[in-house]
Amino acid sequence: MKVVVDHNIFMSFPDPDESLDRESFMYWIHKRPAFAQAHAGRQLSVFTRLKQLMEIESVIEFFGGVGLGTGIVQKLFQPKIHRVYEIASECLSHLQEQSFSSRIMVSYGDAGKTMLEADYADLMFCDFPLMNPMRLENWRAQLSHVFGLSPKAIYMNDTSFWSRHLHRERYARPLGKRVLNSDEEYILAYSEKMHSEYGYSIEASAIHHGASFLYVKSKEVLTPTIKRIQKRDAREAMNIWGR
Ligand SMILES: C[S@@+](CC[C@H](N)C(=O)[O-])C[C@H]1O[C@@H](n2cnc3c(N)ncnc32)[C@H](O)[C@@H]1O
Repeated sequence: MKVVVDHNIFMSFPDPDESLDRESFMYWIHKRPAFAQAHAGRQLSVFTRLKQLMEIESVIEFFGGVGLGTGIVQKLFQPKIHRVYEIASECLSHLQEQSFSSRIMVSYGDAGKTMLEADYADLMFCDFPLMNPMRLENWRAQLSHVFGLSPKAIYMNDTSFWSRHLHRERYARPLGKRVLNSDEEYILAYSEKMHSEYGYSIEASAIHHGASFLYVKSKEVLTPTIKRIQKRDAREAMNIWGR
C-alpha cells in the first residue's frame, strides 16, 4: 500500500504478513484504508488551524503510530525538535524507516512513563490508541504533568466518538454533565472539563469515526470549531492506492 499525505509526503506500507498482530494499528491501517484516510484528514485539519495560530518549534509525540501525524507535523511546522515515541515494534520500525527530517528522534517509549517524565515542548501530540471521557481518569497523572508543563498547544483525541449517541449519559458523567445530546454539546463538555482542570480549552476539532481536539490555553472556555471530515477532505489529505 502506498500513501501520499497532502500530495507531498509519500509513505509505503509493506503488505501485512501472517505474523502481523491483528489488533495492531498497523493492521488497522491496511484493513480500514478509508478510516485511515479520515484519521489523517482529522489530524491535518486541526494542525492546519494550529499553523494559523502560532509558531511551533518543538513537538513531543507520545503515540507515533505509523507516522501519518508525524509527517503532517513535519510538513506544516518543520520543528527544530521532534521526539516520537511508540511501543509497537512494527510501527516503530516503520517510523524509523521513513525519510523524515534528521531532526526527528524516534524511540521506544511507553506513554504511561514518557508522558509522566516529559520535558516542555510547544506541541504535545497525544493521539491515544483508546480514549473517551471515562478513560481520562486512567491517564490523570500523565495528563496533569503534560498540561502542567504549559505547552502552547495539546492534541488529544477521542476514539469512541462514533458511539457517542449510544452512550449519551454514560459518557456525559465523567465530563460533569447528566446527558450529552449532540456532537456540539459533547465537544463543548470536553472543552469545559479540561478548562476547569487545566485552563486549556478546545480551539478546533475535527470529527469522523473518531474525534481530534486541539487544546490551547484560554481565559474563558472557547467554543470549538467543528470540522466534519468528508471523504473528499480525507482524499485531499491522503490518497491510497495499490490495494
Ligand atoms: C491512534 S494510533 C496513533 C496514530 C498516529 N497519530 C498516526 O497518524 O499514525 C495510537 C498508537 O499508540 C500506540 N500505543 C498504544 N499504547 C501505547 C503506549 N502505552 N505508549 C506508546 N504508544 C502506545 C499504538 O501502537 C498505536 O500505534
